[in-house]
Amino acid sequence: MNKSVYDIDVFFKDYVAKNSKFSFDRAVTLKEKFKDKKITSILDLACGTGLFLNEMVKSFDLEYGVGIDLSANMINYAKSHNQSSKLKFIKGDMTNFSLKKTFDLITCNYDAINHLITFEDWQKMFNNAYSHLKISGIFTFDYNTLLKLKNFNRTYYREYEDYNCVGHNTNENDRFNFNFSYYVKQKNGKYKLIKSSQIESTFSHKLITTTLKRIGFKHIKLCCKDFKKCNPNKVLRCFVICEK
Ligand SMILES: C[S@@+](CC[C@H](N)C(=O)[O-])C[C@H]1O[C@@H](n2cnc3c(N)ncnc32)[C@H](O)[C@@H]1O
Repeated sequence: MNKSVYDIDVFFKDYVAKNSKFSFDRAVTLKEKFKDKKITSILDLACGTGLFLNEMVKSFDLEYGVGIDLSANMINYAKSHNQSSKLKFIKGDMTNFSLKKTFDLITCNYDAINHLITFEDWQKMFNNAYSHLKISGIFTFDYNTLLKLKNFNRTYYREYEDYNCVGHNTNENDRFNFNFSYYVKQKNGKYKLIKSSQIESTFSHKLITTTLKRIGFKHIKLCCKDFKKCNPNKVLRCFVICEK
């Protein structure tokens, strides 16, 4: 099995440098959305660097917050940047965990759910979210859509001081195939090539919403990032919000 791209140091460094804005913006949007709601516990599935929970803890009177992520690099980073004794970061799989705690809010941000390849794993994650939610608790996540998959093919090049990256995206076999070639500058001035790839999946809005409904979620809404209703067939990223 391929090592997760997040556990390849150059990819991780690149990701942390370029991708923190999404989690930060998501925290700002959710803080505004739930400002009048009593939220005392948050579970962030595939929490990455922990930046989202660290932002959320500043605005909610949390009793506890938990972040789970599969990548050791991500969890080590989250632990070393943890700004609150109320937050815990755990290395684990969002398709298979049991915390013996329930939460007011469960999130899974930045298309992390697309990392689950089979729909069976999406269902396991939904079931876990449901069983860890308090009654009337909220579950929200976002995913890259079939429209994004259709328009996914592209090659790009990024140049930095100590490494360069060639990225090649394809939608072979109806999946997101990311191929990265990193040219990392060595002390002797030569470049070392580090290759990595990642596969992600997506499914139809209908399958996702009917599954959430079958599990027991209520008030399921597909929306844009600001929670305004959207036409899910016309967006590259769809946000879902629902309740237990
Ligand atoms: C695109 S990043 C998003 C990180 C974070 N949610 C954010 O908003 O910055 C995807 C994350 O999903 C994690 N991940 C992938 N599969 C996972 C799984 N089965 N269980 C838990 N985390 C997983 C990766 O390690 C990575 O940190």
